[in-house]
Amino acid sequence: MRPFCLYYAFSFLPVAWSSSVTVYYQRPFGATTTASASGSAAAASYTGAAAYDPTVLIPPMPPNPAPPTTFFQQLSSAPVPGLSIPQAGYFFGFSVEFSVILQVLGANSTRLAVPFLNLMSNIQARGGSVRVRVGGNTQDTATLVSSLADHKMMEKEAQDTNNPTHTPALLYTDDVLYMLANISALVNVEWYLGIPLNDTANLRLGIAEAGEAILGDKLIGFQVGNEPDQYTLHLHRPASYGPANYSSDFGIVDAALRADSKVATVDGKLLGPSLSGQWQPQEMWDVNFIPDHKQSLAALSMSFYPNNNCAAVFGGPNATGAVVPQQIFASYLNHAAGQAIAANYISSTLLAQTSNLPFVMMETNSASCGGFPGVSNSFGSALWALDYGLQLAYSNFTTALLHVGGQGVYYNPFTPPPTNQSTFRDWTIGPIYYSVLAVAEAFGTSNQSRIIDLAMNGNNTFTPGYAIYDGAVLARLALFNYVSDSTGASAYTATFAIGGGATGQPNGTPAQVKVKYLLAPSVSSKDNITWAGQTFGSAFESDGRLTGTEQIQTVTCKSDNTCDIKVPSPGFALVFLTDTSTDAETYADVKTFPTTALTKTINTLTIDPSVLATSNGQAGANFIPARTSNGKKKTSAAARFLPNLAFVLCISFGVASVLWRTV
Ligand SMILES: *[C@@H]1O[C@H](CO)[C@@H](O)[C@H](O)[C@H]1NC(C)=O
Ligand SMILES: *[C@@H]1O[C@H](CO)[C@@H](O)[C@H](O)[C@H]1NC(C)=O
Ligand SMILES: *[C@@H]1O[C@H](CO)[C@@H](O)[C@H](O)[C@H]1NC(C)=O
Ligand SMILES: *[C@@H]1O[C@H](CO)[C@@H](O)[C@H](O)[C@H]1NC(C)=O
Ligand SMILES: *[C@@H]1O[C@H](CO)[C@@H](O)[C@H](O)[C@H]1NC(C)=O
Ligand SMILES: *[C@@H]1O[C@H](CO)[C@@H](O)[C@H](O)[C@H]1NC(C)=O
Ligand SMILES: *[C@@H]1O[C@H](CO)[C@@H](O)[C@H](O)[C@H]1NC(C)=O
Ligand SMILES: *[C@@H]1O[C@H](CO)[C@@H](O)[C@H](O)[C@H]1NC(C)=O
Ligand SMILES: *[C@@H]1O[C@H](CO)[C@@H](O)[C@H](O)[C@H]1NC(C)=O
Ligand SMILES: *[C@@H]1O[C@H](CO)[C@@H](O)[C@H](O)[C@H]1NC(C)=O
Repeated sequence: MRPFCLYYAFSFLPVAWSSSVTVYYQRPFGATTTASASGSAAAASYTGAAAYDPTVLIPPMPPNPAPPTTFFQQLSSAPVPGLSIPQAGYFFGFSVEFSVILQVLGANSTRLAVPFLNLMSNIQARGGSVRVRVGGNTQDTATLVSSLADHKMMEKEAQDTNNPTHTPALLYTDDVLYMLANISALVNVEWYLGIPLNDTANLRLGIAEAGEAILGDKLIGFQVGNEPDQYTLHLHRPASYGPANYSSDFGIVDAALRADSKVATVDGKLLGPSLSGQWQPQEMWDVNFIPDHKQSLAALSMSFYPNNNCAAVFGGPNATGAVVPQQIFASYLNHAAGQAIAANYISSTLLAQTSNLPFVMMETNSASCGGFPGVSNSFGSALWALDYGLQLAYSNFTTALLHVGGQGVYYNPFTPPPTNQSTFRDWTIGPIYYSVLAVAEAFGTSNQSRIIDLAMNGNNTFTPGYAIYDGAVLARLALFNYVSDSTGASAYTATFAIGGGATGQPNGTPAQVKVKYLLAPSVSSKDNITWAGQTFGSAFESDGRLTGTEQIQTVTCKSDNTCDIKVPSPGFALVFLTDTSTDAETYADVKTFPTTALTKTINTLTIDPSVLATSNGQAGANFIPARTSNGKKKTSAAARFLPNLAFVLCISFGVASVLWRTV
């Protein structure tokens, strides 16, 4: 195994990212009083993979004028006009680039990546199920084959030396689909897949044939082509290719599926148009995309990244137009950021409702071409993603999927360890994974949660808030503070009342409420992020389970029927207003998974028994007893076990750089 690992690491490094990782330097310290120095020295000399980049930016100064730090918010106990359609706990899910599934999901159908199972289990416990899309740019040329050498599940086609501009395609076997099915047998994950659209004269429908047969009701639907509005830019179609041409291509796939005796169901199984911003959604509706394909549509889909880091990644260090992360950091740290994205789709989500179709953000994240160091992997990105997700829900999207690339990107919600470190280091959980946990709890498991943007605190963009009605009951509040201020002076106290007073409603303020906080020392923090007091630790510290003791605050409301909720700067509070058994649940009994194949037991297992004692319930039974390794003991706060990633990663040595390049 070892030589394979080294070979693999060696073979992909230069192509994939050694030339594309830009190292950004912090501005000199002292420029602001709130600067955090942590990580700066490491960042300056950092040349490793983007996913573990230690760059820490300077948090923006508190805004001037500062948002008011005390304010009153009247709430209605009865549902109000303007609420979203009913949302489910699976609202926020994941989009996994096809080329990285070996690292993220598992090596094959009998070797699943245990941390991934745990990460999905956490969300299932809170939201009932998880939606995951396997696709991305690499789906459009992926080809199902009957077998590959050495029983591999996936590999990259050999480069055609006569045609150096041809992107080698992914070849995979149906074991990929058995792997997804085996994951769904353990955790409640439902899948979106994609049908390749690079060649309408020679369609490859294998993924639909095998996907339907193997995944059954765990298959949500098939995206027909990925981002067709990029096809001419990528030279996959002539310049005249437009919305009507895509709609026609969609029809060709639809007809071929209906003619395919190996495909049973096409009605309600296809997704499109998956536009990425090059064409406006209205251009697609104007060519009758919806009525022409209504019978086959599972949902309408879109993809969007609000920014891009392409100049820095592809243009080299002197690329003109390269974005300086420090300069755009602040643009993510307010409510307007998510509102601006959602606004572009509101007429389309209304159209989707009149057509009875779900509306899915198929792939999104902070910036394409990998995101920005210090931005996409900071606590600020967690607040941004959480607010953006809730804003999409308020705007009547029905699902939004955060993209997972390879080690070459900054924005991953979770990243497996690099190949040659996989025997002794574990996964890195990104800040935006915490956002997904919080959204799952905000919507819960009823499928009946409707959300409204409160335009709170005088509609101040730094202190947004939402109210969530579960069925007919006002159940939760989501309160943000984007201001980063270590002095504490920018923490705010929101005072609210439910009904009573001049509202004409009976007083509905409860005697007490429960609060879970998402916290970190500053918006630029990478580590020390906690959700209700629990954490996944720093880089390379997680097996996918939260560690530490869950902390749920109880706030006693006042005799005047108001409640005060403090929100630190920065921070997010999820306030549970009802006392039903499903609210403010503790998740002490989340199902977790042991590894099924153990190798290299030396240097790999260091479990801090005190963490085991306080971490999620049943997990202890699955764990390998703590022992002192005969090498360097990592003093990680996270409980650790061997997810057998050495195996998972090394087997993929033949799959070259495309595995880690994405978007
Ligand atoms: C996983 O998939 C394989 C097919 O390769 C199947 O034989 C096996 O029983 C499945 N289940 C588990 C738990 O591995
Ligand atoms: C998965 O990989 C392991 C290790 O090579 C192998 O033993 C097992 O048979 C593989 N499973 C399948 C279904 O190919
Ligand atoms: C589409 O992709 C497949 C797989 O890579 C390739 O064999 C085929 O030539 C491509 N077709 C076109 C028209 O590019
Ligand atoms: C797109 O459709 C138009 C109108 O039917 C046609 O003239 C044009 O050739 C098509 N372009 C492509 C690339 O298929
Ligand atoms: C970038 O610009 C600097 C300063 O002009 C120059 O010294 C350096 O060689 C350039 N690097 C590249 C890769 O072009
Ligand atoms: C979402 O849909 C509901 C129900 O149709 C509607 O009342 C509300 O205005 C919509 N929200 C937005 C932002 O369009
Ligand atoms: C892993 O590979 C990288 C790149 O080749 C190298 O710099 C690093 O030292 C290796 N780490 C270990 C622990 O072998
Ligand atoms: C919510 O929706 C999911 C997915 O459709 C379904 O499996 C689940 O049973 C629903 N839950 C309730 C409480 O209806
Ligand atoms: C809040 O501010 C946004 C952005 O300026 C604006 O679009 C919206 O109408 C405002 N809402 C209210 C209720 O004032
Ligand atoms: C962050 O966590 C590290 C351990 O992971 C700890 O040493 C450090 O004191 C923490 N910093 C803050 C500000 O809490």
